[in-house]
This record gives sequence, structure tokens and C-alpha cells, in this order.
Amino acid sequence: NTIISKIDINNIDENELKKQAELLKEGKTVIFPTETVYGLGANALDENAVKKIYEAKGRPSDNPLIVHIYNKDEVYNLAKGINEKAEIIMKHFWPGPITIILNKKDIVPYKTSGGLETVAIRMPSHLIAREIIKQAGVPIAAPSANISGRPSPTKADHVYEEMNGRVSGIVLGGDSNFGLESTVIDVTTETPMILRPGSITKEDLEKVIGEVLIDPSLAKKEDNDKAKAPGMKYTHYSPDADVYIVSGDERDVIDKINSLVEKNKEDGLKTGVMCLEKNKHNYKGEVLSLGNSLEEVASNLFDALRQMDKMKVDIVYSEEFPTSGLGQAIMNRLLKSAGYKTIKA
Ligand code: TXA
Ligand code: MG
Repeated sequence: NTIISKIDINNIDENELKKQAELLKEGKTVIFPTETVYGLGANALDENAVKKIYEAKGRPSDNPLIVHIYNKDEVYNLAKGINEKAEIIMKHFWPGPITIILNKKDIVPYKTSGGLETVAIRMPSHLIAREIIKQAGVPIAAPSANISGRPSPTKADHVYEEMNGRVSGIVLGGDSNFGLESTVIDVTTETPMILRPGSITKEDLEKVIGEVLIDPSLAKKEDNDKAKAPGMKYTHYSPDADVYIVSGDERDVIDKINSLVEKNKEDGLKTGVMCLEKNKHNYKGEVLSLGNSLEEVASNLFDALRQMDKMKVDIVYSEEFPTSGLGQAIMNRLLKSAGYKTIKA
């Protein structure tokens, strides 16, 4: 049985969090909110504790974990050969939604790094996450707190429904701020490379460190097994429904989706549509607005995919979003949840 703590972000009960931090100290697993998505944490330096993360998620253990730290000094205990660009990223964006890949020190077990010589490190800004890591007194390995392959949890209900009974503790602390997982950037190479796009964009990074590459294998399904972040090659963010992205001019997309909805209905299939708020009234079917701005789309996307499952739709069509700025991260997650299936309107 899982110990549940409900925490109000505006009035954090430190004693309640202490109970959860105790579990982490004992080598157990605790789910807590972060500014990106909820994380499923355990002591990153304890192999047995880390093993429990993989078990709770049903995750392949060659998929490395992100190590979450409370203050920046900790990075020097975990990693070596930290270069100037890494320092600049940490200075500008920590605490916050970016994870950096560095060469690991021996103290980081291979169970945590998925057998790699590198380690992913992030200093979250979420006040509940920070308090838990601080009280635990150890770095905390934490992947997104979903069953492997499912959309990452961005709301308290998501973790409660999916993970209650699978972990020792759960901290319910409201909605995540950004709703997509952190940007992952490898700074061990000559030119830093984004391995997973997130809300800190390529454009944001280039302003402070100059040229940044994006792992080319993220763009195409065929190249996915070449992805440099091992986690990017697995099926991901998948609701039970079959997802398609419909691309083209706005008017054509609306007509195309509506005709597909009609056809599916004749075939006895229930169809969901995900779109911008402004287009909502144009669609037939089970329509979910993702919001008006890219920020809203990012924060609503995973919840919308979960809602589609609740409505038991068979097929989901989503509008397409731009592939620059925050759109890069949104389209990365959307393409993965669609298994890269797109329809040209
Ligand atoms: O926002 C986030 O990053 C959330 C919250 C909880 O912090 N965590 C998260 O963790 O998304 P996870 O395990 O779901 O995704 C970690 C990603 C995976 O794609 C993994 O392969 C990659 O980071 N990664 C971790 N360590 C790596 C390494 N040493 N080299 C390359 N990729 C690595
Ligand atoms: Mg994940």
C-alpha cells in the first residue's frame, strides 16, 4: 500500500514531505510533481532502489534515468570533465526544465546510467520536487511516472490512477507547469546536441552557447532506433486509440478530418479530434481543444491523449503544429504517439 500525501504548492507542508523523503532514504520509490511532468524517484546512488523504478514502470533497464539534484554543487560529485558550455547552460537554465548529459563519475551506478559512461542530470525548479530532494539528502533518479509506453503524467489524477499500489509513496501536488518532459542536451561532444526537444528550445540555447544540433534521427520513424537518447527509440506516449496527424492548409485539414470522422462513424468507429481552441467548433466527433498557444498545447497534450482513452475513442486525428520553437517538442511527442502516421489533407 502506497502512502499518499496531498500537498498544496502555495502552502507546502514540510512535515508531510519529510515522510516521503524518509521512504526515499530507505531505498524506496516515491512519485512527486516537477515543473515538466511527474517523476518516479528513488536514490540514484543505490542500485537496489533504482531497480524498483524499472519494476514499477515496467521499463527496459537499458534505458538510462535522469538524476535530479537540489543544488548545483552536486553536479561535481556525479560528473567529470564539465566544460564551459555545460557551465553556461547550468547557469542560465537551472533550476529548470533542462537535462544535461555529462561524463559520469564512478559513484553513479550503471543501473542508473543504463550501462553508459555518461549520466543525465537535472536540477528541477518545482518547489515540491526541490523540497523532497533536499530532505532526502541524496540525488534522486526519476523517469516520468507513467507505465512504460504510456503518456507522461501531468496531473495528480494521472499518477493516482495509474501508479497507486505500484510505488511506496505518491505526492499529489497539482498540475505540472510545462507538461512536456525536459529538454535533454548532450554537452560531451564538440557541438552540443539536443537528444530530446523540450520547452527550453534550440533557439533559447543558441542564444547562450552558439550552435546547437538536433539528433537527426528524431525526425523520421525509420531512424528511430538510431536515436542517441536510448529512451527515444521505444514506443511512447501511446493512448489505446490509433493516432494520426493531419497536415495541410487549415481549411483542407478541417474538411479532411470531418470526412474521416463521418466515414469512421459509418464503420462503427468512435473518433476523437485534437485541435486549437479557435477551430474547435468546426469539427465533428469527440473534439478536445489543446488551447490557443503552443504553451497551452504543450501543457494539455498528454492529458488530452489520456482523455481520449477515457472516452474510449478508436481513432484520434490531431492538427499539426509548427516544428520550430516549442513546436519542435510538441511535434516530437505527437509524432511518437501517432507512431509517425500522418495524413496529407
Ligand atoms: O522532465 C523530465 O525530464 C522528467 C522529469 C521527471 O524530470 N523525466 C523524464 O525521464 O522524462 P525519462 O526517464 O522519462 O526520460 C529520460 C530521457 C530518456 O529518453 C533517456 O534515454 C535519456 O533521457 N537519457 C538519460 N540518460 C541518458 C544518457 N546518459 N545518454 C543519453 N540519453 C539519456
Ligand atoms: Mg518517460
